[in-house]
Amino acid sequence: MNIAAVDYDGLIPNNVALGQDVRVKRALEKWHPGYLNWWNDMGPEGFQESLVYLRTAVSVDPKGWAKFDYVRMPEYRWGVLLAPQMEGRKVNFGTHKGEPAWQEVPGEYRAMLRRLVVIQGDTEPASVEQQRYLGKTAPSLYDMRNLFQVNVEEGRHLWAMVYLLQKYFGTDGREEAEALLQRRSGDPDTPRMLGAFNEKTPDWLSFFMFTYFTDRDGKMQLEALAQSGFDPLSRTCRFMLTEEAHHMFVGETGVTRVVQRTCEAMKEAGITDPNEIEKVRKLGVIDLPTIQKKANLHFSLTLDLFGNEISTNAANAFHAGLKGRYREDRLKDDHQLESGTYPVLRLIGGKIQNEDSPALSALNMRLRDDYVVDCNAGVGRWNKVINEFGIPFEIKLPHVAFHRHIGEFTSIKADVNGNLLSDAEWGKRRGEFLPSESDRDFIESLMKPETEPAKFASWIAPPKVGIDNKPGDFEYVKPA
Ligand SMILES: [Fe+2]
Ligand SMILES: [Fe+2]
Repeated sequence: MNIAAVDYDGLIPNNVALGQDVRVKRALEKWHPGYLNWWNDMGPEGFQESLVYLRTAVSVDPKGWAKFDYVRMPEYRWGVLLAPQMEGRKVNFGTHKGEPAWQEVPGEYRAMLRRLVVIQGDTEPASVEQQRYLGKTAPSLYDMRNLFQVNVEEGRHLWAMVYLLQKYFGTDGREEAEALLQRRSGDPDTPRMLGAFNEKTPDWLSFFMFTYFTDRDGKMQLEALAQSGFDPLSRTCRFMLTEEAHHMFVGETGVTRVVQRTCEAMKEAGITDPNEIEKVRKLGVIDLPTIQKKANLHFSLTLDLFGNEISTNAANAFHAGLKGRYREDRLKDDHQLESGTYPVLRLIGGKIQNEDSPALSALNMRLRDDYVVDCNAGVGRWNKVINEFGIPFEIKLPHVAFHRHIGEFTSIKADVNGNLLSDAEWGKRRGEFLPSESDRDFIESLMKPETEPAKFASWIAPPKVGIDNKPGDFEYVKPA
């Protein structure tokens, strides 16, 4: 079988020979109507009948896997796609290092592995739910298309995880696959599993920040799972990463375009002080200090997704060979970490300081550190734009102790530089660091839809190039 080609003949496009796997094929076909119901209930509201210019994966060949065409979202071909199997692949870390990679679930790790798949799977539909109303206020058809592309691909990522559950985890897998369709982002009774996926994404700046910061957590988790000794999980995540790259592109360029438009408008109006917030807002653009506050919010919420800095679960998953480090295969050490240490930022005697901890226990901290480095690269590109306009302002990621709800810094309050604050000081200064009610109202007041091809809302610059090299006036979404 040519693994790079995808079989599009059946109900479920796939490159896993589903046609010959009657049990799993039936299980997925049974799950399919529930998925469509979920999509119709919780997917993009008001646009289910629109024609959207979307890419669909038609191959897993890295040199050309996507094809673009107009599709109605409920008719999108969600499929099961795994990156090609690597000949002779081995478990490359943990206590089983050097053994052949597993093609079936090792019995002793079944529960742990299922939990990893379910937690990843739960984030995928959650973000679709969070972004459900944004189509109505899209600043352009180009942006609307990008939103829907991200949404259908998150739907496909759910399919990817559900395939693993149905194929490898029997009855419990089937139950988990059902439960993934039952939970709802932000629902008080049946919320999604992780905090950041129960927050609202009420406006487009939030969407860009979410795709920049939170989809990037997705990237880090997928990179760590792509290292897994359980080969089907590794192959699944490797292909998801190719799609994920576009989501972060949407976030990074989205924020860049917002920053760009703000700087242009300031220049046109002769405003040089970025803190002249009211004057800047009168221009119909988002002032830089508010953009900074949004970044503070989304960065801090996303850091919570990395879990406790010191974690036995993370140590166990690594030891077992199920979840590796970021780009484990490129690291140069023993890949077992039984004796090494890693510096962990902790609260010791009322001070934030590094403490060497056993490397195995510190894996969440390490992945979070890798994440912060990755985040900073794009922030540098935002600042380059501001710099080109000569505006004295720099967007900075807040300290990791700022505004945390999980881990070492849950019990304290800190400012964006990591200085500890009393509860009273925090109460007084919160609005300096995080968007206030009136900041949110202002952003919301800008969220007017722009649905004419080639036009963009006042607060965002057009992109440098179109999707699939389309010209500027291309109609990316045709309303029903
Ligand atoms: Fe995803
Ligand atoms: Fe994503």
